[in-house]
Amino acid sequence: MAVRAEGSTIWDSEGRAYLDAAGGAVVVGVGHGRASVAAVMAEQASRLAFAHGSQFTTDVLERYAAAVGPHLPVDEPAIYPVAGGSEATETALKLVRAFHLAKGETDRWIVLARWGSYHGNTLGALDLSGRKPLRRPYEGWLGRFRHLSAAYPYRSGDPGSNALGDADELAAELERAIEAAEPRTVAAFVAEPIVGATLGAVEPPEGYWPKIAEVCRRHGVLLVADEVMTGFGRTGRWFGMDRWGIRPDLVIAAKGATSGYVPFGFVAASGAVYEAVREAGPFVHGFTYSHSPVGAAAATEVLRILEAEDLIAASATKGERLKSLLAARLGRHANVGEIRGRGLLLGLELVADRESRAPFPRSARLVEAVARECRDRELLVYTGTGNANGIDGDVVVLGPPFVITDAELELVAERLGEAVESATSRV
Ligand SMILES: Cc1ncc(COP(=O)(O)O)c(C=O)c1O
Repeated sequence: MAVRAEGSTIWDSEGRAYLDAAGGAVVVGVGHGRASVAAVMAEQASRLAFAHGSQFTTDVLERYAAAVGPHLPVDEPAIYPVAGGSEATETALKLVRAFHLAKGETDRWIVLARWGSYHGNTLGALDLSGRKPLRRPYEGWLGRFRHLSAAYPYRSGDPGSNALGDADELAAELERAIEAAEPRTVAAFVAEPIVGATLGAVEPPEGYWPKIAEVCRRHGVLLVADEVMTGFGRTGRWFGMDRWGIRPDLVIAAKGATSGYVPFGFVAASGAVYEAVREAGPFVHGFTYSHSPVGAAAATEVLRILEAEDLIAASATKGERLKSLLAARLGRHANVGEIRGRGLLLGLELVADRESRAPFPRSARLVEAVARECRDRELLVYTGTGNANGIDGDVVVLGPPFVITDAELELVAERLGEAVESATSRV
């Protein structure tokens, strides 16, 4: 039972101190136990806790929108605040449709996404996700969206992987999918700039994003970047897309926006999308807990801390440091296929054989054993399975708070090293 947290540590009810190398579910950027975030939330809650989005906007929300705008990789952004990533994904899909309707392009229904992706657990967002182990129990309810290959160089061409590793091939595949559909029926392409937990911090091949963005623009297909995990400094830049200078039409954000202090997220739409939808109006949508003043207060303070303490740069440098510590500790281990990622979004892919990249069978439940071994050593990590072929595959994902100290980074590498050695020796 978790009872208290500070910095990069969570204490349980028995006094054990866990080093949170996962930031929960890759959520906590500014660190645990920030009294100033709690204070602004309390102040906002006692002044105005709730005003429904259909009736009011609030000063705190407007101030947040103005403050976050310049950091977003979106031209003339407007935000639609919600209570988390899945809601933001659903909202983005509806905004895409509302935009095309506003433009009179009523046949644009088709949404393209990728295998090896995650966009949320509500049924629409799950359907968009290409994460097979999560889809499998609900297949009969899914199938509205089309999935293209994962941009996953390490597994390019492997049987069952649905992965390609060449930017030209991936862009050509997108172009073929758009052209194979009736002309002007594709509405959007949705993807994570760097794939988070599903594949374990996988970056696309060089040149991928500029090529993909160009194909989308040429066909009037909206580009939607899911930055729920990569946003707010996680990859060492404000947003994942900043690494390639790409300006999507819509950006989905959550997690790091409030660093876990309160459920909050948003969709950012470009001015062009926003104006078209607003003029055609009304955009009939909303949740009870969208437009939360308390959420906006927490997000504003988190933004201030990220800026004041230069935590985006910290994520970049500490990420590099952790990556080299991991390479030194585990880089030659027979079951470590790849150590990858950017900033403090790092992944470790575990394999049965480095040469062939063969995964462990799922029945071995390797990554579960690694996570257990980590926990025994008071280290928290995040995990993913099914990355190799939809069933097999084991990835460990690291996403600690950006305030993690150098000494703690060394502990992460040491404890994870021991956990991997111990778990693999018993499989
Ligand atoms: C890339 C991405 N999109 C969407 C989501 C869903 O967000 P939430 O869990 O807040 O609904 C997640 C959550 O892990 C995510 O990583």
